[in-house]
Amino acid sequence: MKVGVFDSGIGGLTVFRALDAALPTHDLLYLGDTARVPYGTRSPKTVVLYAQRVASFLVAQGAEALVIACNTATAHALETLQDAGLKSGIPVFGVIGPGVSAAVAVHQGGGIAVLGTPGTIKGGAYQRALASHLPSAHISGVACPLFVPLAEEGWVDGPVPTLVAERYLSHLRDSVDTAILGCTHYPLLRGVIQSVLPGVHLVDSASATAEVVGSALSGIPSGQGSRRYMVTDHPAQFEASGAMFLGKQPQRCEWVDLPPASPPFDSP
Ligand code: DGL
Repeated sequence: MKVGVFDSGIGGLTVFRALDAALPTHDLLYLGDTARVPYGTRSPKTVVLYAQRVASFLVAQGAEALVIACNTATAHALETLQDAGLKSGIPVFGVIGPGVSAAVAVHQGGGIAVLGTPGTIKGGAYQRALASHLPSAHISGVACPLFVPLAEEGWVDGPVPTLVAERYLSHLRDSVDTAILGCTHYPLLRGVIQSVLPGVHLVDSASATAEVVGSALSGIPSGQGSRRYMVTDHPAQFEASGAMFLGKQPQRCEWVDLPPASPPFDSP
């Protein structure tokens, strides 16, 4: 089985890394939509259109299951892609449900914060899912837009990211016991975020997502364990920075163009 994994850019490699370990013999395709990154500041409608194009492309490349390794795209497009996938038997997984389950498991009765892009926080999908599990918990959504460019630049420690994290998060210090890293870039800034929120459980949805996908697909005949990396712009930059997110050097990355979305992932 081929599994298509996508993100707006390079951050989804933190999820791909966990899937790489969870599905060693499945063939994995990764698509970073680097021509259209960032998704986090765009409108829900635009993100849905982008996600439909990526999903169509990955299915045309042979993907039989899809993982949306992007919180913003999960927040805006999961339902649309899952409905479309149902029509052709393609399961579609997002990162929010697994992240919420992981947070609920470690939550100790205090407040919970969701850290994400402006789109993820404004969309409210995390907050709604958390509230349905923990109706009396105090939930704060905090948009941290500067974390994405900092991670992309590799500025993941030192005074600059620490100051940014302090500015975004210091007000949470005494009020939360759990914080969800609700953006695929944020695990790179884990050390800095933890230093600003000492003692707070930081939840990364990457491993929780890989667990869900792994148990759903483990009974299905797998493939050769191949890995293929594609981006819609700047493959050399992806190859140069990919190791930081993936934990090892990604193999050759291909530049691809995305044709318009096609059935079942075109608009209804
Ligand atoms: N990967 C995206 C996410 O998890 C963040 C980057 C972007 O804004 O596109 O939300």
